[in-house]
Amino acid sequence: MDRRAFSQLLTLGAAGLTVGHANGEAAIAAEDAEEGIAPAAGVTGDLPSSAVAVDDFIELARRNLPKATFEYITSGSEDEVTLRDNVDAFRRIRVLPPLLHGIEDADLSTTVLGQKISMPIMLAPVAVLRMAHPQGALAAARAAAEAGTIHVAGSSAGHSLEEIAEAADGPKWLQIYVPADRDIASRLVRRAEQAGYRAIVVTVDLGERKDADLRNRFAPPKEMLLKHLRDIGFTQLTEQNTYDEILAFNASAWRISLDAEFFEWLRKTTSLPILIKGVLSPQAAKQAIELGLNGLVVSNHGGRRLDGMPATIDVLENVVEAVDGRLEVLMDGGIRRGGDVLKAVARGAKAVLIGRPQAWALAAGGQAGVAQALQILRDELTNAMVSCGCSKVEEIDASLLMS
Ligand SMILES: Cc1cc2nc3c(=O)[nH]c(=O)nc-3n(C[C@H](O)[C@H](O)[C@H](O)COP(=O)(O)O)c2cc1C
Repeated sequence: MDRRAFSQLLTLGAAGLTVGHANGEAAIAAEDAEEGIAPAAGVTGDLPSSAVAVDDFIELARRNLPKATFEYITSGSEDEVTLRDNVDAFRRIRVLPPLLHGIEDADLSTTVLGQKISMPIMLAPVAVLRMAHPQGALAAARAAAEAGTIHVAGSSAGHSLEEIAEAADGPKWLQIYVPADRDIASRLVRRAEQAGYRAIVVTVDLGERKDADLRNRFAPPKEMLLKHLRDIGFTQLTEQNTYDEILAFNASAWRISLDAEFFEWLRKTTSLPILIKGVLSPQAAKQAIELGLNGLVVSNHGGRRLDGMPATIDVLENVVEAVDGRLEVLMDGGIRRGGDVLKAVARGAKAVLIGRPQAWALAAGGQAGVAQALQILRDELTNAMVSCGCSKVEEIDASLLMS
């Protein structure tokens, strides 16, 4: 951000921000609505320019989505203790900025696994993004590229890894769930390499059980699930299969609990950097080091897995301490403000990822919505860094926080 924009922000807040409208989205929305995979009227929504904080996208998304889809995105598992705690834990941390530091602007750029990004904020993998918006992960990838950051493409996003890779030429990583069939897993990794992904993220915290989804009988439409499974490589499935057959196939197609052997195999199979997503304890972090992995994501899956797991920001420091610089630590869960990013970096995260804010912004305004959400977080982080006298990301440290 240049100095003028920054001083405008000081006086105007983010209200001066505007977003453009992505071309052609309405037509695609209508097309997908006919296919029954997206809501009809208003799916692209009004321009989300009224949002000044990422939480403002919640209402905009609610307006644009069927109830079941909105609740699929927004809810957490069981009593949502972990979901709430992820957000509240950030609010409990106090920042104590130094005074008289003379810093007037901040450079937010940093690196993750040696890859330069314009700010320590990345897009988390999100399943069935195509239900949030017809352009789904394609729009998210474009917004990330435009913002100069990494999109971690979800292999369950509703578009194939090749479609997502072609949508934007920014840096991208691929998140995978692991097919039970090793040949398909192996081909998936080869395809990721060929499509230009720069890292593989393996999610290990599995098993989603959410009351809202059970009440709403939430399930992706047949066409979307079929496309997803065929995109993974299960090409034996066709339109001739009934929805029940596809659901039954899906239920047994995946490894639902991973072990060290899988990571040993993956390490030998690819030279791409490998990250494990779902680490919460120092013990798990040490396992990741022993397995020769390159990075880990401190994550409880946004409170969508086992309820009662700790808030990620509360366990981050212990993980960082156990890792002791031997691999890179990222984190996600509950990031709703640029100030939250500062707190996570102060506790040792190299960068953070956003899940729900991305999906809400996408539902609210497609690519432009995600771009705006990223811009809001960027401006808030700039404000927090300048307030704390940090002209560079490397200058953010734990001395800024009251413990
Ligand atoms: C709708 C939705 C779908 C998700 N799907 C995936 C997924 O396919 N793979 C994955 O590793 N994480 C998935 N996540 C978890 C996110 O990657 C991330 O860990 C989490 O959303 C971070 O918390 P936040 O929503 O508070 O930002 C999903 C999250 C949401 C909200």
